Amino acid sequence: MRKKIVAGNWKMNNDLGATNTLISELIKKEKTTNVEVIIAPTFVNLLEASKQLKDSSIKVAAQNMHFANHGAYTGEISATMLKSVGVNTVILGHSERREFFSEDDNLLKQKVDKALNEDMQIIFCFGEKWEDRSIENHFMVVENQIKNALFHLKNENWKSIVLAYEPVWAIGTGQTASPEQAQEMHSFIRNLVKENYNSTISEDVSILYGGSVKPENAKEIFGKNDVDGGLIGGAALNADNFMAIVNAL
Ligand code: PGA
Repeated sequence: MRKKIVAGNWKMNNDLGATNTLISELIKKEKTTNVEVIIAPTFVNLLEASKQLKDSSIKVAAQNMHFANHGAYTGEISATMLKSVGVNTVILGHSERREFFSEDDNLLKQKVDKALNEDMQIIFCFGEKWEDRSIENHFMVVENQIKNALFHLKNENWKSIVLAYEPVWAIGTGQTASPEQAQEMHSFIRNLVKENYNSTISEDVSILYGGSVKPENAKEIFGKNDVDGGLIGGAALNADNFMAIVNAL
């Protein structure tokens, strides 16, 4: 049975004080559901987040990491560093990393391999731009992003992979994919995994939707068969909104 997951990607928001405040609010609202709740604060606040959430079921994720162990990579953070502050989950391939930091499939493949070598859980993001969808190219774009970074993996690696479909045109724009558009793509992705691996793996992998998810639209999107939760940006910065989304699953 695949897991239901709601992850909050805080992006470059919240200093130490705001991180503490938001986490305290989340802890107060925390409920025991079968939804896995994850938050991804900025690197500098991961240690604090881990400490605060030590006795909580809310997990802490990083928004990125480097593929090397250590060395002359100014400004970068390694998997072992993340693990040393209690972080065992990492978001890789977010469209903002692809767009503003030129991360391509080949680089992401190396990061995926490193994270798996370190036994980390990966939330792997991908999604088409509007220009791709407008010429009906969205399935091909998504297929290539997944294939290039993930289809070299062994069967057993898939237990550590969470997929996150995030159409770029829906991120931070207020323009959500319709539940039908999300379902159509999620079922395409699940089928792709099935064709390349097997139906046990494809049925077990959680596929999250991300892009302008809010308390008002979460229930409808999460109601679709192949949508197993969400990756939330803007709405994850407010405890009421984030927990309302968690409770919509
Ligand atoms: P959004 O961001 O919810 O603000 O659209 C989602 C994401 O980028 O993960």
